[in-house]
Amino acid sequence: MTTPVRILGIAGSLRKDSFNRAALRAAQGLLPEGAALEGFELEGLPLYNQDQEQNPPGQVLEFKKRIRAADAILMVTPEYNYSLPGVLKNAIDCASRPYGDSAWSGKPAAIMGASVGSFGTARAQYHLRQVFVFLNMFPINQPEVMIANAGQKFDAQGNLTDEGTKKQIRQLLGNLVEWTERLRARPGA
Ligand SMILES: Cc1cc2nc3c(=O)[nH]c(=O)nc-3n(C[C@H](O)[C@H](O)[C@H](O)COP(=O)(O)O)c2cc1C
Repeated sequence: MTTPVRILGIAGSLRKDSFNRAALRAAQGLLPEGAALEGFELEGLPLYNQDQEQNPPGQVLEFKKRIRAADAILMVTPEYNYSLPGVLKNAIDCASRPYGDSAWSGKPAAIMGASVGSFGTARAQYHLRQVFVFLNMFPINQPEVMIANAGQKFDAQGNLTDEGTKKQIRQLLGNLVEWTERLRARPGA
């Protein structure tokens, strides 16, 4: 039997009725067998301040612990002004420091995102991929889950109702699990 793959999901919105947090909740019901997905809420994570780097706030230490305990990361990004929101970038920065002690390095990852616009966070997702290069994360490329016109894909309770999107998320998670297992199985891992 293979070891289960534990995924940490991070949605880059603090909004109560966030489509991205709703998409992350939906992903929890679309997992392949043998995988688990827990969410980490970014509410309360302090703004990164390099003066505190050697003595980081408890929330940052806890966040880094949760990332390190995960086998893979799922980032669910809104798009703000054609990029990823500050809330998500701040969280990424917090867990990447101090230099040489990043919690992200070597993590397999998947990206998805929801926006009310018709580009479905495409621009934010490509910026996030660029950030992953420096973080030395290993994102899967496909499928690209870009949930456009999000207002039409979720019901009033925040349940994902669009079958095509569900299918894409199921595929994304399946690919992430397979990718994580491949990285785990490589010689020297
Ligand atoms: C500051 C700000 C900037 C935004 N910029 C974009 C954008 O560049 N592209 C886009 O598709 N939507 C943009 N939006 C709309 C978001 O897609 C929409 O607010 C979405 O619901 C945010 O994600 P959430 O529901 O998870 O909070 C912007 C919203 C805000 C508040």
